[in-house]
Parts: sequence; C-alpha cells; structure tokens
Amino acid sequence: MSVDLAGRLVVVTGASSGIGRAFVEASAQPDARFVLLARRRGLLDEVAATVHARGGEALVQPVDLRDIDAAHAAAIASLEIVGTPDIVFANAGISIARSVAATIERPDSITRSVGANFTGPAAHALPLLAAMAERGSGHLIGSSTTNARLTIPGWGPYVSSKAGWDAWLRTVAVELAPSGVATTILAFPLVATPMSAPTLAGRRSMSAEEAAGWVTRAIRLRPTRIAPPWLPLAEVLHAAAPTAVSRMIGRFSMRRSQP
Ligand SMILES: NC(=O)c1ccc[n+]([C@@H]2O[C@H](COP(=O)([O-])OP(=O)(O)OC[C@H]3O[C@@H](n4cnc5c(N)ncnc54)[C@H](OP(=O)(O)O)[C@@H]3O)[C@@H](O)[C@H]2O)c1
Repeated sequence: MSVDLAGRLVVVTGASSGIGRAFVEASAQPDARFVLLARRRGLLDEVAATVHARGGEALVQPVDLRDIDAAHAAAIASLEIVGTPDIVFANAGISIARSVAATIERPDSITRSVGANFTGPAAHALPLLAAMAERGSGHLIGSSTTNARLTIPGWGPYVSSKAGWDAWLRTVAVELAPSGVATTILAFPLVATPMSAPTLAGRRSMSAEEAAGWVTRAIRLRPTRIAPPWLPLAEVLHAAAPTAVSRMIGRFSMRRSQP
C-alpha cells in the first residue's frame, strides 16, 4: 500500500535501521520531507541520500533519545528548522530480554529500556504534539508490540517499558483527538530486523517491508491501533487468566538473556 506524502513533513525516529528505515525507503518520493532521527549518523546519511535521490528533503538528527534533554532539544530544533510535522512516526526502540534473576545483577536493563522505549520518545514527541495540536492537525504513530498488554516471562525490561509507552500513547490518543491530532498504535508481532535477530531462530515473522506497510496503512486510515487479528482475543484471555496465559506464552517465548 503506497501513500502520497508529497508536500508533507514526516518525523521518523529509529530511521537508521529496521522498520523505520524500511518505511522511509518505501515512501520517499518527490516533495516529501523527512526528519530522520537515530544515533548512528552514517546510517541516517545513507537514508537521507535515498530521500534526496527520489526528489525529497531530509533533515538528519543524530540523537540518543535516552538523553531526555537532547530528545526534547531535537524536537524543538526540528520545529525551528523545518516546521510542524504532519506525521510523527515514533518508532525508535531497543529490546532487552532478561529474567528477573539476571536483572538483579543488571538493573540498568530497566533504565536503558525505559529511556529508549518510553521516556525519551515521549520527551521528543511532546513538543511536536503541542505544535500539531496548536495547528489543529497531525498524526502520531507509535511503534508498540503485541506484548505491551501481555505478561511475557523473561522479557521484563522490554515489556514493561513498552507497556508504559503503549499506555501513554492511549492517553495521548484520547486527550488530543479533539485538537485534530490522531494517534495510532502499531502492535507489531515479531518482525525480522536487526533488533529481533538474536531471537528469530526460525520463528514466523513479518518482514521490515511488511511492517512498513502497516505505517502507510496507519497514515491512510488513521485507526487507533493496528495489530495481528489474534491479539484482541489473547488480551481478553490474558485479562481473565493472567497466570495461566503468561505461562503458556512463556513456553513459546525465547527467554535467553542479552547483554
Ligand atoms: N523487530 C521486532 O520483532 C519488533 C516487534 C515489536 C515491536 N518492535 C518495535 O519496532 C520498533 C523498531 O524496531 P526494529 O525492529 O526496526 O529494530 P532496529 O532495526 O534495531 O531499529 C531500531 C531503531 O531505533 C533506533 N534507536 C535505538 N535506540 C535509540 C536511542 N537511544 N536513541 C535514538 N534512536 C535509537 C536505532 O538507531 P540507532 O541504533 O542508530 O540509534 C534504530 O534506528 C521498536 O520500537 C521496536 O520495539 C519491533
């Protein structure tokens, strides 16, 4: 599904790799403007070159979102340089799988996850949301996970940070809809990207290009959430019997610890 972005400004975090990069590379077109944010400048420059080659414009922002002040400053800078976005694809994130026992030795697993997946992205999104609400139009699309509202043994740092992010996005959706700002949560299942490479192990997954298709669907249809068809039932069963369902999920989840 393609989308017409001519004349529109799209902010993409996590644009250097995986889903964010696949989305920009699939949707770059004449007169489309992008703000590309991630930490690795060299990769962002490659993506920007693709945007330029297709007749668009790109502002590259090498920023570590775990630095709240830098995240906020990057949003303010992009507003000053290129203006209020039409679409913000808040997609950057990291994945740390670690058991509770292993987290005792590595409590930074939680702070790193929350910084990259929730507090940093929120600090970055807030000035952009304020500008879109003031204008009376805009669209925030947030990358979440099927696991954000489920219990996944062995994945405490990742799932808890995504749960906070997912809940915050739901709050934004309700509060800002009257201002003309739509919010879409993308509850991705396993997607074959550098992030998931350590846990793919032959399991069924979407491609990054298919995941990018969810982003274009979100832009066209502006739904509150895009998720696999099985997720609502899983969430109802989990709410009814959380311990039994999370044990079952645990049997299907890779619980290896990561650095
Ligand atoms: N892959 C999956 O199976 C899966 C499933 C569900 C949800 N998701 C979500 O989808 C989103 C994209 O993930 P992906 O699979 O495309 O992974 P990826 O290929 O590893 O891409 C992650 C992106 O986030 C950026 N990033 C990470 N930490 C950052 C930080 N502190 N500051 C700024 N940018 C940062 C990375 O760029 P730099 O390293 O250059 O900073 C990269 O561009 C994530 O939010 C992830 O949680 C993925």
